[in-house]
Amino acid sequence: MAGKDVLKELSTMLSQARILLAADVDAKLVNEIDVNTLVTRLIESHKSDSGISIADRNEISKILEEISKEKTPMPVEVIRQSGFKPSAADVDAFYRISNKERLTAEGNVNDFVDYFKNRFEKIRRIIEERRMTALLSQSISTTKGYTSGREVTIVGMVTSKINTKKGNLMVVIEDETSDLKVIFMNGTSQQSKNLYEAGKRLINDEVVAIKGKLSNQFLMASEILWPDVPIKEPKKVTDDVAIAFMSDIHVGSKQFMEKNFSKMLKWLNGESRMDGEGLAGKIKYIVMAGDVADGVGIYPEQEYELAVPDIFLQYKILFNFIEMIPDYIHVFVMPGNHDAVGRAEPQPILGEELVKDFKLDNVHVVTNPANLNLHGLDVLAYHGTSLDSMIRAIPDVSYATPEKAMVEILKRRHLSPIYGGNVIVPSKEDQLVIDKVPDILHMGHIHKNGITEYHGVKIVNSGTWQGLTNFQARSGHIPTPCILPVYEAMNDRFTSISFENGEAWK
Ligand SMILES: [Fe+2]
Repeated sequence: MAGKDVLKELSTMLSQARILLAADVDAKLVNEIDVNTLVTRLIESHKSDSGISIADRNEISKILEEISKEKTPMPVEVIRQSGFKPSAADVDAFYRISNKERLTAEGNVNDFVDYFKNRFEKIRRIIEERRMTALLSQSISTTKGYTSGREVTIVGMVTSKINTKKGNLMVVIEDETSDLKVIFMNGTSQQSKNLYEAGKRLINDEVVAIKGKLSNQFLMASEILWPDVPIKEPKKVTDDVAIAFMSDIHVGSKQFMEKNFSKMLKWLNGESRMDGEGLAGKIKYIVMAGDVADGVGIYPEQEYELAVPDIFLQYKILFNFIEMIPDYIHVFVMPGNHDAVGRAEPQPILGEELVKDFKLDNVHVVTNPANLNLHGLDVLAYHGTSLDSMIRAIPDVSYATPEKAMVEILKRRHLSPIYGGNVIVPSKEDQLVIDKVPDILHMGHIHKNGITEYHGVKIVNSGTWQGLTNFQARSGHIPTPCILPVYEAMNDRFTSISFENGEAWK
């Protein structure tokens, strides 16, 4: 943008904040500057002024000088060891990105109806494919005419779950025709106990099939059939390449563990004696599953926990770090609930204003969630904001074991089953249904590492690069910062490398 246009844009943006430009500010002074950063700084320094205030040449020059000094923050000095011969550099990358584009909705009550209808249909189809269709009853309304004692299997969406006065569990399910009360008896036999415990795991808005016997207007449950995933054989990958998983880097937070992150970047560059087995040199892909920056105004009083209160600068610093990653490694950067793209999911890619200075062929911004295919492996990456509501709703999952909550998500074939736990854009298609079973399911958000396998699907929560925050200290969540999970595709093996020794960025 030419200086004249920048000046015009600057004055328009500032006038909205009741700041006027002095006459000595000319187009030459603001030629080729980052308008957003300058405006953010000016608003910050004028925030205590009441009424209209004026920004003059002197003030703007000082701020521009400060910004230009900050543009190259804390460079990581990378000296590759002479013996470092990364094998991944000799292997061609093969990747495909399937972003979850937002399907715009009208913003009225019909959107919710369409959204839930679509979720119901998609998951019913999954259940039908997984189970024998003939077993499933047609709809809830058709069962209303059946006599008591008849056995049925009904697909429905859970709308509520309560304990009855007699100590049993009553779950209401509905489909597009009607609703039905399902009873889980709290009996004495082991079978009854197991079924009652399984009923307690049902959560609002999930779609399941329930088998049972009709009894007046109730269904006495005998089995729950979750959509679930079939057992998968591991895919064969012939190249000896690896994928590293990261999330919750939180650049900009005082607790971002910058020294450890730098240490990891040096390791990727072969500048470390830690890499006895050549693992660093095998890494061909890095997936960053959200909360890459700490953001601004994400929670009350966040400003006291920020080392960098400028959102644009947070991303500049992040991408300066990303530039240190060797260029044969492809990096996929996804937003999370802290990132500057709005909270509603699916979240779009990081905006042009945040990434424009960093056009690197090996760095790809992706949506949250996104389906990636890396060297033939299907990786479903999602920040994991829904894990909070899953942990609250299901009896034996906790913040200490995010991988267990991820298994529950997989079984339900939906990335965010409980509606309202996190912000979702209701659109004609429910983009958070897990249509295709991935080889690897990757999430973050909980700041706790966890790896497991379920029916052949690898599950990885990649922890964090942020130390203990005041919020976590208050809520008793203990993070596991600076542990990098790496998956070797050919050997079908995870290794977690700790870069824990270091200090937080203060
Ligand atoms: Fe986070």
